[in-house]
Amino acid sequence: MVGMTRIDKNPSGNRRGIAVEVRGLVKQFGGSQGTRALDGVDLDVREGTVLGVLGPNGAGKTTLVRILSTLLRPDAGSARVAGYDVLRQPRQLRRTIGLTGQYASVDEKLSGRENLYMIGRLLDLPRSDARRRADELLERFSLTDAAKKPAMQYSGGMRRRLDLAASMIGRPSVLYLDEPTTGLDPRTRNEVWDEVQRLVGEGATVLLTTQYMEEAEQLADELTVFDRGRVIASGRVDELKAKVGGRTLRVVPTDPATVTAMARTLAETGLDGVSGATAVPDEGALYVPILSDEQLTAVIGLLGERGFSIAHIGTHLPSLDEVFLAITGEKTTGTTGAAETEGVAA
Ligand SMILES: Nc1ncnc2c1ncn2[C@@H]1O[C@H](COP(=O)(O)OP(=O)(O)OP(=O)(O)O)[C@@H](O)[C@H]1O
Ligand SMILES: [Mg+2]
Repeated sequence: MVGMTRIDKNPSGNRRGIAVEVRGLVKQFGGSQGTRALDGVDLDVREGTVLGVLGPNGAGKTTLVRILSTLLRPDAGSARVAGYDVLRQPRQLRRTIGLTGQYASVDEKLSGRENLYMIGRLLDLPRSDARRRADELLERFSLTDAAKKPAMQYSGGMRRRLDLAASMIGRPSVLYLDEPTTGLDPRTRNEVWDEVQRLVGEGATVLLTTQYMEEAEQLADELTVFDRGRVIASGRVDELKAKVGGRTLRVVPTDPATVTAMARTLAETGLDGVSGATAVPDEGALYVPILSDEQLTAVIGLLGERGFSIAHIGTHLPSLDEVFLAITGEKTTGTTGAAETEGVAA
């Protein structure tokens, strides 16, 4: 692609600017007849960026995170984080990372503040620093009011935020987030996304696993798609989206009979992408491929200007299933989340 810069090995062979470097990683569970959770994985995460690792259940995402956290030893291959080798320098490596696991790791009986304080102490922070850091993070994750309640009384979203706060006590430069928003409601999910974006803005590098295309699109600079322990696609989010198709706008007019006229009107304007607009009279809906936020705004504005009365608009991203279908030509082997839809009543 013209004008695209790729960060590859520079001539001296050193890997400056790469925070996480994984080569030929293999992990086999249960002997030769067992499961090959990782089957020769290569990936890079550039410093200060977010890599999204997208894959269905059992693809190997958590196994990768556990190896990169030194919680699990690989059978073959190598991995370096912030320059530290997972096998040879586990101690130094652990000091530079933060981990928010797929399964919350807070102590149920302790309060939010006690959990954070305890982790600070485990990281060798002096008492006063551990206390200060705990309060700072409680504030930042809107948990100050619940600080003294035992974690078992927290909602799923509060628990997830506490977990994120816990992973940040030691001011990690590389953060692993393993399905950070699975099971959260949309509002809480947005709060977690905001917090991740803020961290990246402050210079953190993030490796994020997710089953949601929407999450990957929101947060990731680059994506690696896993299936059965292998990387089946990788690249910038826009490159992959171009491959699998991006968002679609769905417009439902107040009068279902007008969908055909809407499609015709759009086609006549010659706006980008509107030639792909499809009217579905049976549904009373019009579908338009979205190419950019500007185009989306222009399409909606134009329909209003031409006097069409709109009852409902919403956008739709391809689901993980559709992404897999587009990349591999087959359905995912795992079970995946449903398609992402965000609706807005007009
Ligand atoms: N400790 C273990 N012992 C045996 N098999 C394991 C172990 N951990 C993971 N596996 C297997 O390795 C494969 C990859 O699992 P992993 O947890 O890495 O997947 P995942 O992508 O994180 O899935 P999910 O989206 O469900 O979290 C699966 O087939 C799983 O059953
Ligand atoms: Mg997992």
